[in-house]
Amino acid sequence: MKIGLLGHGVVGSGVRKIIDDNHIPGVEIKRILVHTEKEIIDKSLMTTNVDVILQDPEIDIVVECMGGIEPARSYALRAMQSGKNFVTSNKKMLASSFSELLKCAKKNHVTIGYEASCGGGIPWMANLERIRRIEEIQAFRGILNGTTNYILSRMYQEKQAFDAMLKDAQKLGYAERDPSDDIDGLDVRYKVALSCAKAFGRMIDVEQIPTFGIRNIQKGDLEYGREIGCVIKLVGKANLDGMAVVMPVFVKQEDIFASIPLNYNAIECASASLGLATFIGQGAGSLPTAHAVVQDVLDVVNGVATLQDCHLATVNNTSVEGKYYVRTTQREAFEGYIEQEAKCGFLTKKMCIEKLCDLVRKSKDEAIFVAEVMK
Ligand code: HSE
Repeated sequence: MKIGLLGHGVVGSGVRKIIDDNHIPGVEIKRILVHTEKEIIDKSLMTTNVDVILQDPEIDIVVECMGGIEPARSYALRAMQSGKNFVTSNKKMLASSFSELLKCAKKNHVTIGYEASCGGGIPWMANLERIRRIEEIQAFRGILNGTTNYILSRMYQEKQAFDAMLKDAQKLGYAERDPSDDIDGLDVRYKVALSCAKAFGRMIDVEQIPTFGIRNIQKGDLEYGREIGCVIKLVGKANLDGMAVVMPVFVKQEDIFASIPLNYNAIECASASLGLATFIGQGAGSLPTAHAVVQDVLDVVNGVATLQDCHLATVNNTSVEGKYYVRTTQREAFEGYIEQEAKCGFLTKKMCIEKLCDLVRKSKDEAIFVAEVMK
């Protein structure tokens, strides 16, 4: 089958390398879309004109590794309207337009592969599908962002500074073009939404997921964790009842998540007969992510790619409550809700997540840092 590859950056170049190096039978990259004429190093392969790919009847699969919402979304729709299967690593675009893209795929009898959109190289989506052949998935939680795990690991282990670690994560090709999505938790939010689609058959509006990131973390927050035998990890979680949250969490040293290093991700899901299953691997980086893309391509080539059913659902966090660590200069906003001092911050009384969001909003503190403290 012939592939049209949209994007030749970190992931796109990895896709090309894996396909070239492994001489995978039945798979050929026919065309690659690049941004500018300057990037064209092979005229027979590369183009800056997307129509050359979208209008080529020989191209069966369009693989999108451009990132960003537009023009990726429009290209996806056009590719599928032309009867081409679509594979993407672009969680932001997919999570923001999932219903529209799914409808388009169904109408045109093609599939959408998005293994690479969540957990990088970890076969996560594929395993969710396998588990669901037998039983419902009840819940999942995951370290779903390589950039922030890399930053948190090195800040904790080597006492490095946040900014320098973010720069390293960018150099290593882990971070998004705009790393705000990584450090503000938005990247994890997209991944939680897409995992909910695969795990529960429910598509939720990403805006409904309460999301806290690590932009404002300071060494003192990590030190507080060390004092109480915990490590901070950015965790996304959801369950079948509609719960969905993205938040830094103080996890116990003995929790499997505490030892997940650098750009690695770990995702755990629960179902009746399998029980807890944890999947660990590189969650960001060129080749691991490209590996997941090529796996999706092979599913199309082998005729086993499927398109799931999904219905729109709302987030319901009424059952989510906990004690939270908060560091803020506006502590009066939390008056009546503070249980005890905690190094440079404090611990709240037990409260529901909606209340926490409300208090954080009221504090108007843009430098606030919030994390859940696991029991
Ligand atoms: N920026 C993302 C991360 C890339 O760091 O996890 C992989 O989705």
